[in-house]
Amino acid sequence: MAVERKIRSSLYRHHNIFLHMEDKVTLLNEIILECLNETDENLIVKRFMEAGLNVLSADFGFVWLNSPMSRELELIYKSPNLPYEPRFPRKGGRNYTAMQNFTPNFVIETKKTADTFYVSKFLESFVVIPLFFKKAVYGTMVLCFKEKELFSKEKRILSVFIGNSVAQAITIHRLIEKEQNAFLLAAKQETDLKYEKLRTDFIANAMHEIRTPLAIIRGHVDLALMKGSNGMNALKDINHEVGHLTNMLMDLTLLTSTEGRFKDRISFRKVHLNKVIDGVADRIAVIANKKNIDIKFIKNPSVYIMGDVSYLEKLFANLIKNAVTYGREGGSIKIGIDKKNNSVEIKISDNGVGINKVDLPHIFERFYRANKSHTSETKNIGLGLAIAKWVVSAHGGTISVESKVGKGTIFTVSFPTLKLD
Ligand SMILES: Nc1ncnc2c1ncn2[C@@H]1O[C@H](COP(=O)(O)OP(=O)(O)OP(=O)(O)O)[C@@H](O)[C@H]1O
Ligand SMILES: [Mg+2]
Repeated sequence: MAVERKIRSSLYRHHNIFLHMEDKVTLLNEIILECLNETDENLIVKRFMEAGLNVLSADFGFVWLNSPMSRELELIYKSPNLPYEPRFPRKGGRNYTAMQNFTPNFVIETKKTADTFYVSKFLESFVVIPLFFKKAVYGTMVLCFKEKELFSKEKRILSVFIGNSVAQAITIHRLIEKEQNAFLLAAKQETDLKYEKLRTDFIANAMHEIRTPLAIIRGHVDLALMKGSNGMNALKDINHEVGHLTNMLMDLTLLTSTEGRFKDRISFRKVHLNKVIDGVADRIAVIANKKNIDIKFIKNPSVYIMGDVSYLEKLFANLIKNAVTYGREGGSIKIGIDKKNNSVEIKISDNGVGINKVDLPHIFERFYRANKSHTSETKNIGLGLAIAKWVVSAHGGTISVESKVGKGTIFTVSFPTLKLD
């Protein structure tokens, strides 16, 4: 079989060698098969043109084709030795006749009239083969002969067969393309939907979180308006809720601003990281004491980075606060700092409740709270780690987490180190 194929393709290459009808049909069939994985329509047309010239023993030719988008014909291919520029097909001309009748239009002898004279000096005969599938007409393939061609019965049958072969290859190619486009469109619609869902989820969560303190404030106002109530106490509680609302709205503003704008607000200065962490740990020690949690900060080595102190404080406050909130009574928190080649690594570990595998990939998402049962009674809204991640990435760093339920959690933050001249 392989040998036979080899012979056939070598026959195909040598124009002058006589091919049997059967070989010609096989050759066209092979091209149809080979064109199945051809993505360029022009190349498909080119291959059939070469085969068409070969099987009809024609001298040169060209192809008019429309596109799936427009019905306008375009000269899509010219054989390299075409001696003149083909005229755009005219309504009522031979190209249109062939396409309307769905049959090849054979011209044995070009007329030497004034209008067609200019091609008759290059060719004697030609055939216009329509390319169509059912009612879909794609265009025509024109094959020309320098010498007079009588078009035997065999050549007439082959002309029809060439037209069918090209149309078959183009139909399959356009169908595949249509499928692919539909697939790409569906994929895009899916991502649009996902994005829309993220957006609506975010707004719904934000609304929910804002509504709670507002309801509490309303309750206190109602109480304060009642006769004989102590307005001062209500005002204190209202003040507390307003503070909470303000903080949350500030966080939301930060998280909803685009990264570019967010980065603009950061002013980079040389920062002594140890000092920042030390200050934050000191502040949180007050809350940690209530749970009998011990915070240990191993301060070696001393590290400087380029950063914004107020944002870095926010970052470490969120991480250390989490270690306390989700830490165990009487537990401990360790903070370590380590210099790598071009970066510095800060590890914050606790021996608290831990985070299970299902929640772990999501904890940096806005409003995400793992293990909701144990957090439901707290005031936490699930923005802390989203903020932490923003701060880290705005400083060109990375943040990661490892955790085991019941054992504890380790957060690792890495920043590029300051290059000293
Ligand atoms: N150190 C930790 N140990 C165990 N679970 C943690 C730890 N840090 C975070 N988590 C889990 O990740 C979730 C998200 O944390 P994040 O700090 O973003 O939100 P939050 O603490 O719930 O609320 P917020 O910080 O906005 O007040 C938490 O609800 C908690 O379940
Ligand atoms: Mg938190």
